[in-house]
Amino acid sequence: MTNWPRNLLTRVLVPLTWRPFSGRMASRLKYFSVMEADSAWQLLHALEQIDDPPTRALVLQHTLEELHHASEFDRVASQYEASHPPKPLLHRDPILDPLKGEDAAPAFLAHAHVGEKDVFDQFNSYAAGIGDCPARSVFLEAKKDELGHVGLTHKLLLAIVGSPKEADRWIRRARLRRAWESWLRFSRRLGEIPMRVLLTVLYVLGLLGGAWACRQRLDEAPGFVEFESPALP
Ligand SMILES: [Fe+2]
Ligand SMILES: [Fe+2]
Repeated sequence: MTNWPRNLLTRVLVPLTWRPFSGRMASRLKYFSVMEADSAWQLLHALEQIDDPPTRALVLQHTLEELHHASEFDRVASQYEASHPPKPLLHRDPILDPLKGEDAAPAFLAHAHVGEKDVFDQFNSYAAGIGDCPARSVFLEAKKDELGHVGLTHKLLLAIVGSPKEADRWIRRARLRRAWESWLRFSRRLGEIPMRVLLTVLYVLGLLGGAWACRQRLDEAPGFVEFESPALP
């Protein structure tokens, strides 16, 4: 499974929609800041379940890097005036769920590995499309860290499951789950479109109907005489 359609779309659309509209760019950068902070929050929850000190140190370092990305995206976004506030995140539970027993850690690490790979591809596409501006250096710096996170999450997954074959199986499962979640988000957005179109049509019809009714009342009102301008000599 690959992200190339989305990455290609990003490269094409970012120069067209970000460069001329800095408010749009600022809103999106703020959203990245929120997402990076959310990743750090997930890692902090995972940290509670890790006993091995060297692994704890690696995951803490990973968490700090995500927090650094969040503050960098926020800093660079504040250089522009956002056209609208970032979309709030929906309520989320910690992804590492201890109730899953021995599946909890591999499921979390596979999910994190797939997410880090997606984020790396995404930042790579934004860095390529955004042109020469302060936000570009943030994407370039962050994508280097994300590449390190791709390697780290794979290494930790491999250490837990014991074989590359088993690691690949968990990664496939995580990809399928993310694809399903993306589809649900997409279909939810798709469902909003007809309602927006319907409301727009209703508003336009209401305005036209109101204007027509006003005109009728004026025409039928007693004593209403069309003013005729006197003929000029
Ligand atoms: Fe990050
Ligand atoms: Fe990351």
